[in-house]
Amino acid sequence: MKNSIAICPGSFDPVTFGHLDIICRAANMFDKVIVVVASNKNKTNSFTPQERVEMIKKCIVDHPNVEVESFDGLLADFAARKGAKAIIKGLRAMSDFEYEFQMALTNKKLNPEVETLFLTTSAENMYLSSSMVKQIASMGGDISSFVPKVILEDILKRINVNK
Ligand code: COA
Repeated sequence: MKNSIAICPGSFDPVTFGHLDIICRAANMFDKVIVVVASNKNKTNSFTPQERVEMIKKCIVDHPNVEVESFDGLLADFAARKGAKAIIKGLRAMSDFEYEFQMALTNKKLNPEVETLFLTTSAENMYLSSSMVKQIASMGGDISSFVPKVILEDILKRINVNK
């Protein structure tokens, strides 16, 4: 898809290899990808939006067509403001489907110009989630196979402070 902009939304609290796999694959398909740290009002986050943006930026330095920002509002409005053609989401398992389907339909209703595209998560990331990473870290487990080395310290510092 040429001259096209896609957005990759999520809480990213924190970003994991699962998210990065989706972001990098989207970056190979679209001219520009905007990763947007958005808020799910039902969740309590461990990192501020700015901290989450900074962590993602550290992980995507090799992808010049990927930008990162935070946004506190409706994703459909953000997509319209950016002229995005697509919202890219990763699907891990059937359990993700109902929730994602509901969000996709709602976003389509709010902004008919934007399509939601689902990419299947790579097999090795099927079980991964940000909460799982935080839980393992808080119990002294090794999270180096779930998140890039460049953000390992940022995560451990926060988890240890919160303990
Ligand atoms: N690989 C591994 N894990 C993944 C993943 C992937 N490819 N994609 C998502 N996950 C995990 C995340 O880490 C997260 O784990 P957690 O629950 O332990 O934190 C979980 O799956 C859900 O992630 P996400 O897709 O980021 O959903 P979310 O509910 O955290 O965030 C928003 C959803 C922020 C995109 C959505 O609420 C939104 O658009 N908010 C803006 C306001 C709005 O427009 N609301 C109306 C929406 S219709």
